[in-house]
Amino acid sequence: MNIDVFTLFPAWFDWFKSQRHVTNALELGHELSFVDLRASTPLKAGQVDDTPYGGGAGMVIRVDVVEAALRARYDVEPLELCGQRRVVALAPGGRQFDEPLAQELAAEPALTLLCGRYEGFDERVHDHLASDVVSIGPYVLSGGELAAMVVCDAVIRKLPGALGHEESALEESFSDALEGAPEYPHYTRPFDWHGHTVPEVLLSGDHARVREWRRERSRERARPDPPAGAAG
Ligand code: ADE
Repeated sequence: MNIDVFTLFPAWFDWFKSQRHVTNALELGHELSFVDLRASTPLKAGQVDDTPYGGGAGMVIRVDVVEAALRARYDVEPLELCGQRRVVALAPGGRQFDEPLAQELAAEPALTLLCGRYEGFDERVHDHLASDVVSIGPYVLSGGELAAMVVCDAVIRKLPGALGHEESALEESFSDALEGAPEYPHYTRPFDWHGHTVPEVLLSGDHARVREWRRERSRERARPDPPAGAAG
């Protein structure tokens, strides 16, 4: 898979790129690059943003700046790029990122992530240059960089070989193996911690019972909490 992240702060991703599952993926031939939006701006003095039409606080990243960055990177008409690769703009108002979307993106051969800053992108970036607008949650971050790291992390750990221990990805929270439910609880030593002991079934050596117990705990976690004050 080839992932390109367009950002005003490529250096922020240095730490991310050094994480084990990411280095594993890169060693397997996957690619992860960071493209500085400022490097190709057609405006003077590295300008990338402008004041919003209609007035109001903050600055907006210009659509022509994003267009120029995409053209410089891919050498194609940016308006046609979405037909060739998934182009995801990160913004708080977008489609909520979840496990099915992570799975969907992990199956793509190529992914472009656009990180907004300040008040975000000119809406025409969402409408004409991106195939998707994605939010990592209903809150406002100072920019799309952390959101892009979240998306990259969730996607990269799904690439075969990235984790180095494949079962972890197979039976983790929200996976098909767990019928989309959150993962069951895990325990390790000590068996007794301040009187809080580990469920006996996990020490039974009976794999079928362990499997059933885990499945049931997972299903339990998927059930919505009863409304406050409800009986039973
Ligand atoms: N940019 C700012 N807030 C964001 C969010 N919640 N998700 C994605 N991108 C963002």
